[in-house]
Order: sequence, then structure tokens, then C-alpha cells
Amino acid sequence: LCGIIGVVKKASGSSISINCVEILRQGLKKLEYRGYDSAGIAVISQNSIVVIKDVGVVDKLFNSSELLSIEASVGIGHTRWATHGKPSKNNAHPHMDCSKRIAIAHNGIIENYIDLKNFLLANGHTFSSETDSEVIAHLIEHFKKSGMKTFNAFKKAVSMLRGSYAIVAIDADEPNKIFFARNVSPLIIGVGEEADFVSSDIAAFIRFANRVIVLNDGELGFISPNTVHIETLSGVVVDVYNRLKIVDSFMQDVEKGGYPHYMLKEIMEQPYALAQTFSSLQTQDLSEVLKILENARRIYVVAAGTSYHASLLGAIAFRRFLGVDAEALISSEFRVVSRVVKWGDVVIGVSQSGETIDTLLALREARERGAKTVAIVNNPFSTIARESDYVVSMRAGPEIAVAATKTFTSQVLTLLYIIAKLAEKSSAINVDSKAMIHGIKMSYEIAEKALSVSQGKAMAVANKLFQKHSAYYLGRVFGVPIAMEGALKLKEIAYIHAEAYPAGESKHGPIALVDKDYPVIFIYIGFLDELIEGNIEEMKAREAWIATIAPENMVRGSIEKYSNVVIEMPRAPLETRLITYAIPLQLIAYYTATLKGLDPDKPRNLAKTVTVI
Ligand code: F6R
Repeated sequence: LCGIIGVVKKASGSSISINCVEILRQGLKKLEYRGYDSAGIAVISQNSIVVIKDVGVVDKLFNSSELLSIEASVGIGHTRWATHGKPSKNNAHPHMDCSKRIAIAHNGIIENYIDLKNFLLANGHTFSSETDSEVIAHLIEHFKKSGMKTFNAFKKAVSMLRGSYAIVAIDADEPNKIFFARNVSPLIIGVGEEADFVSSDIAAFIRFANRVIVLNDGELGFISPNTVHIETLSGVVVDVYNRLKIVDSFMQDVEKGGYPHYMLKEIMEQPYALAQTFSSLQTQDLSEVLKILENARRIYVVAAGTSYHASLLGAIAFRRFLGVDAEALISSEFRVVSRVVKWGDVVIGVSQSGETIDTLLALREARERGAKTVAIVNNPFSTIARESDYVVSMRAGPEIAVAATKTFTSQVLTLLYIIAKLAEKSSAINVDSKAMIHGIKMSYEIAEKALSVSQGKAMAVANKLFQKHSAYYLGRVFGVPIAMEGALKLKEIAYIHAEAYPAGESKHGPIALVDKDYPVIFIYIGFLDELIEGNIEEMKAREAWIATIAPENMVRGSIEKYSNVVIEMPRAPLETRLITYAIPLQLIAYYTATLKGLDPDKPRNLAKTVTVI
């Protein structure tokens, strides 16, 4: 979340007739899809930095003609989606240091910002915001004060950051440069005739620059009127000309936002997709859907593949939180119940594409038998949406990679949202619907943290898995559908046999396969699944290789003692955990596939939309 841009005009007599502030305005408008609770710019004008920022959308910020009259040739801008610190003028980017000579804009999460902030406070710095990002400006200032030139101070500051970041920085003492760095969050350089750019998305500058360099993780550098300098964190200078691509021939990659595959892009954009789904649900009139669900005799949730796993989780939540009779069914197996489906029942069809024929046929049959049908789809114009009595639209954005990722987390969010809304309507139900909605809403912030904390660990698990032929994924209650989703991802894109089981069931047969170094991945949600600790011990006794995904505040006992890798998920409410625990499993599958040299975007034998029975 958040979008950043930087621009350096090439010469004072540049023939770009519009000024730097207007270029930033146009760029930020294009980046607004990445966040729009606040916006800001910082430009270097008459050798000092002018920062203008506020809560609200880009148009609100640029409402004054005074702003557009500022003369500048170097500037940075930011659109924000709040993670650390509420939307406020102080928390909006850019952030400055104490001397007000340095300004930075940042997209990502600095995980060690509390340690860095304490270090800076002890060194006399004062802070103006509650953000994690502000430490970057102060760190640069700190190292400059110790005698370093700005670029060296910037490099030193970046080397101290842990987490995800795309950073742009300016310094009034070196007024012709923009410094930048990337790790995890996307960042692309644009080289134009009259100005050079650095931004989270090519769309922000494509009008002015059509030669681009997509930065890799761990790269940083600066642009100045006639130079683009890039090096790695370890100091290896990058041959810029070799990396330069013309946009036309490069559009494919650029559409991937600098990621090597759509699947990784879609995994990484889950915070944004979840935020979109949440706000879209809030604007839809769900009253009719809620009414029929409230009065349903029985609820069936039908779906295929990944959507079935989301449906399973949804059905458990219907039963557990609302105490209603709900069952998830594989849509091609709908016939097992179709004779008992009747008027008064509600059948929810969950489908990313809205075109899966098995799900469509199940819904048609349900309708013929007098049940009401509800479609939960990402594509509101799809056949399933058109043929259903009611439609709930997720708006998670297009999913290109064959393996579903962001639509799974958005489906879980949608089902939980519906359940929270039903709880709100019924006084008989002892569920705090407000707290549930809060937990659901937190998912986008936690998804961003989860992405950043789990990458390294997911890679460590992939390093084990890619040499294996088989693996188990075990969970209990809510952890079971998540385990099933993790196993499906591994099968689909890494071609490794993976099976998911309720952990308690593993000793009734599956454990026979477990011997030394056999990989077992446990999903520990921390709700109704405490018995998993015993299952971990059982697997360890057979010398299994164990990875456990668990809440950071619940890593103890056999989880801590026997797991070879623990992926510690951020502390969060239950609903947030249910939405986000698939994320490390998606990363594990993705990294395993790439370690095997496979293309995760195009797994063999599979298609994105399955329209054959
Ligand atoms: C798995 C995957 C498939 C789909 C399934 C249903 O990664 O993508 O299992 O989930 O084919 O597709 P939709 O949701 O379009 O009905």
C-alpha cells in the first residue's frame, strides 16, 4: 500500500512546459489506487525544502493555485494508506529530519523502527509523526552529521532497515538528486528526454518517460539531471544501460509491477486487494442477502478448488459464530445433497471467475429445486453472477496467475464480513459483531506485515521442500481449510505431492508415511487448536522436518521446541488470522516452484477458468 514518486527535471531550461509540482500531481493521481487517505509532496525550491501534505485525496491537496506556482525542478510525492499511525497531517508523507534539510517518502513497513527510533531519540532527535517511516529521514541526518556525504549517509541508513520498503529521499544540500532504495515494495525508474523519474508504478510517469529500469530487491542509488546510478546494498555497481528497457517491449513485465511473476505480484498486493474488498462490501447494499440468509432453513456453500477451501472456512464460521446449519460442498459433488435441497434453503456459490461450470451447474440445480442462490464473485459480469438471485462482488482486482491467491483471502474476508453483519442483526447471537468487523478490517494492515515477516522464513521452508516428493499440511478446525489451500498451492505450481489433514486425524493412517526429514507443515491458528502441540510431538518422534505457522505471541511448548522453522505471524484478532494465514503458504509454494525452475504463472494442465465438466 502507498504510492511514491520522485522527479528530477533535466535542465533548468527544460522544454517540459509544466512544472515539477504539476508533474507530481499528475503522477500522484495515477498512484491513488495504492492509497488515498492522505497525500503530500516535498520539492526543493530556492535551496530549501517545501513540504505540503494533508489528509484526503490528491485533488484536495492540489486545490490551491499557490501550490502550482512553486518553482522547482526536483521533488517527491506520496499517496498514503495508513499502516502505522492514523491518517493525519503529521502522519502523511513526506517526512523530514530535524534540520528540515531532508525529506523522504516511503512505501512498506520498517519492522525495526521502534529500535531505530529509540536509538535516534537517545541521540537527540525529535519526531513529528507516529509513523515507522520517519526514522529514515532522521537516520540519514544522523549519518550526515557524522561527516558522510548524503549518498553514503542514505546507504548507511538503508542498511539499518529491516522490512519492506520503497524509498525516495531528497536533501536540500544536494539539491539536484533523488535518492532511492527498494526491498520488497516495487520501485521503477523512468528515463525521459526532459526528466527522470522513480515511482511505485510506471503509470505515474509514462507520459514523460518510456525507458524504464525495474529495480530489484536490495538495490539503491540516485538520479540527478544526467545520471542514473544504481548499486546493490553490498556495493556492486549496476550497469544501468544493460537494464534499460523500452516500455513497449517491456509492458508485460511492467504490468507485473516489477515482480518476476504475476503470482508473486498478486500475493504481494493482497493488502490492497483486501482493502478494496472491504470498502467495496461496505458500499454494497447487502440487506436482501442478509435477509434471506437470516431466514434460511439451511445454508450450503458450493465452490471448486481454492474457492472451495474459502467456502469450507466460511461454513465453519457460520456454524461456530452464528450456530447456523451450514455446509460447504465441492460443486461437482453437489448431487450428494441435491435431493434434500429445497425451498427455504440458501445456496451460496463462491467463484473467483464466476464462470466455473461445476459451480454454475450446482447453482442452477439449487434454483430449480426452489432454493435462493447468492453469488460471491470477483467478476460481477460473469455468468454465475448473472444467473444468481443475489450477487456479492469482491472487487479484489484482476487475478492473472492461474493459481488463486489474493482472491482466496478476499473470499474469506467476504464470508466473514457477511457473518459479522448477520451477527449484528441478531440479538440472540453472542458474537461481538463490531469486534469482528474490526478484526476483518485489520486484515490489510496485518497482511502487509505478514508479507514482510514471512518472506525469509517461507524461503527457508521452500529450500527444504523443493528437494522433496511429498509433504503434509496439518491444522485443526479453521486451520484445516487453510492447510488444504497450502497443499493445493504446492501441488499446483511446484508439482510436489502434498496432502492436508485435520492434525488429529494424522495418527489414523497418514503418519505411516512419516520418517526422517519428512516435511510436515503445521498451521496453528491459536483458536480451538491447542491440541496441535501434541501432534507436533508425534511427528517429531518420527523425526519429521517441521515448519509451523503460528501467532507470534503463542510460540511456545512443542511449537518452539520441535519446529525447524517457525513463521511467526503478527499478533492480531482471530478474524484477521483466518484471513491472513494462507499468505505464508502461498509464498512457500511460490518459492518452491521457482527453486525448481518452474513458471508459477503457468502450471501444466491447468487453466484459470474451468468451463468443462
Ligand atoms: C487454484 C485455483 C482453482 C480454482 C477453481 C475454481 O489455485 O485457482 O482451484 O480455485 O478452479 O475457480 P473459480 O474460483 O473461478 O470458480
